[in-house]
Amino acid sequence: MKTILVANPKGGSGKTTLSVNIAGYLANRGRHVALLDLDRQQSAALWLATRPATAPPIRTLESKKEEAQRNDWLVIDSPAGLHGKNLAHALKLASKIIVPVAPSLFDLQASLDFLKTLAEEKKVRSSKCHIGVVGMRMEMRTKAAWALEHFLATLDLPILAYLRETQVYVNAAFEGKSLFDLPPHLAARELEQWKFLQDWLEQD
Ligand SMILES: Nc1ncnc2c1ncn2[C@@H]1O[C@H](COP(=O)(O)OP(=O)(O)O)[C@@H](O)[C@H]1O
Ligand SMILES: [Mg+2]
Repeated sequence: MKTILVANPKGGSGKTTLSVNIAGYLANRGRHVALLDLDRQQSAALWLATRPATAPPIRTLESKKEEAQRNDWLVIDSPAGLHGKNLAHALKLASKIIVPVAPSLFDLQASLDFLKTLAEEKKVRSSKCHIGVVGMRMEMRTKAAWALEHFLATLDLPILAYLRETQVYVNAAFEGKSLFDLPPHLAARELEQWKFLQDWLEQD
């Protein structure tokens, strides 16, 4: 099973938005995918509960142990403030970690500290777990994107995507949908921004 942990200790960085869209992407690729929501707010679980029966299925995982082996992919949405034991536990499960970063200076600073912590993990240093960063609500060649690249230059971590701020994500979520469940013409510009991230997900 491939486990993707979406994490950033900062609230509002885009973890849930990214998690449900990654799960939606995998489901639309015909993968068996489950979503595990570690956040007490249960936003991803609520999204899943409103998912239409006609959309490619995504299973929910109530606990980390439950039937995990039956799924090819597991996407873990995590809460703000993830650290210490809970972070260590989530890290144990993950083969890939995606860190969404929102475009403010404060988000960048907090994210950089988190990324430094991750980069020092044994599992990451031995390449058993790969980390990638997503610029959330960001566009290329903006001040925020430049600052993110500048911050990351010291850590040798890839930027997997810049996902622009758009109501497409917000509106899709209201219907339990991801970008990948929408008629493609409604999300053409967004889908374009996902290409590299998709390839990275599928790499071993
Ligand atoms: N690319 C985006 N475009 C528009 N709104 C976004 C985008 N990414 C996130 N948001 C919005 O930002 C807010 C925080 O995102 P969320 O995914 O809930 O973050 P987290 O789970 O890290 O707290 C939500 O209101 C969400 O709808
Ligand atoms: Mg969330």
